[in-house]
Amino acid sequence: MKKKIKVGIIGGGTIGTALAHAVVKDLKAFAQLKFLCEKHTEKAALLQKKFQFYARLVPLTELVRRSDLIIEAASPKVAAQVVKLASKWNKKVLIMSVGGLLQPPVVEILRKNQSRIFCPSGAITGVDGVLAAANGKIRKVRLVTRKPPEALMGAAYFLKHPFPVLKSLTEERRVFCGVAADAIEHFPQNINVAAVLSLAGVGPERTQVEIWTSRAYKGNRHEVTVEGDFGTFTTITQNRPAPGNPKTSYLAILSAIATLKKAFASVRVGT
Ligand SMILES: NC(=O)c1ccc[n+]([C@@H]2O[C@H](COP(=O)([O-])OP(=O)(O)OC[C@H]3O[C@@H](n4cnc5c(N)ncnc54)[C@H](O)[C@@H]3O)[C@@H](O)[C@H]2O)c1
Repeated sequence: MKKKIKVGIIGGGTIGTALAHAVVKDLKAFAQLKFLCEKHTEKAALLQKKFQFYARLVPLTELVRRSDLIIEAASPKVAAQVVKLASKWNKKVLIMSVGGLLQPPVVEILRKNQSRIFCPSGAITGVDGVLAAANGKIRKVRLVTRKPPEALMGAAYFLKHPFPVLKSLTEERRVFCGVAADAIEHFPQNINVAAVLSLAGVGPERTQVEIWTSRAYKGNRHEVTVEGDFGTFTTITQNRPAPGNPKTSYLAILSAIATLKKAFASVRVGT
């Protein structure tokens, strides 16, 4: 019988908990959930209770060292830290906080990297098309993201800019227009999709991003437009939020499960 790979999950919030369930349920033929890491004491206790028959709580460095596959579902800062450790020990890593991969020291590590980093498409569709198009010439990649105000709350951008005061239920306001590199810096927890799109296509300095908000928006909506030698395409993804977290789209969780399954599949469909 083939040995099952040891999985460690960092971050026991919406995505980490859902992925822990997926590992013990959907991937049990290939993988064992062995380690968990959660910095919030109460959440950690809850996580331990839920998964006590499978995994135990350990500090981050120990988790990376002892796991074959590490799932990061915490923050861009943690993503950067995990990639640094994982590259030292040649580990496989699934990164959810993809914005963390664009920090200059991490970019440098990834250049010489021996480990395998998986970045799910997350809450957008069209990543397969961008990946294919990038083998020819791409002229434009544009992401227009629409989020309800509660999904933007707490973003670093609003420490320097006023949070939009919307006068009516239907008023729409553009809160950001620029390149992905700046969007990721200002909205590190809210715009991982811009990081995914940048890595798949023309990079963070050439990927254009707009962020809009309105109280009329229900869930996060992402419109991706790509123009290149292949032609053009536009995808629109109208997301439903994950239960209990308006900032995270349910599709991001499903996409991560699909990426994990693909990593073990003998037939791999899609670009
Ligand atoms: N790629 C995508 O499309 C996509 C979509 C949604 C969210 N995300 C990102 O995925 C990450 C997880 O999202 P979520 O919705 O589960 O968030 P969440 O807030 O529900 O959970 C994050 C958890 O990580 C824990 N955490 C933070 N720092 C930690 C540390 N140093 N060590 C251990 N635990 C730590 C927090 O206590 C929290 O429980 C976020 O960074 C988010 O921005 C990516």
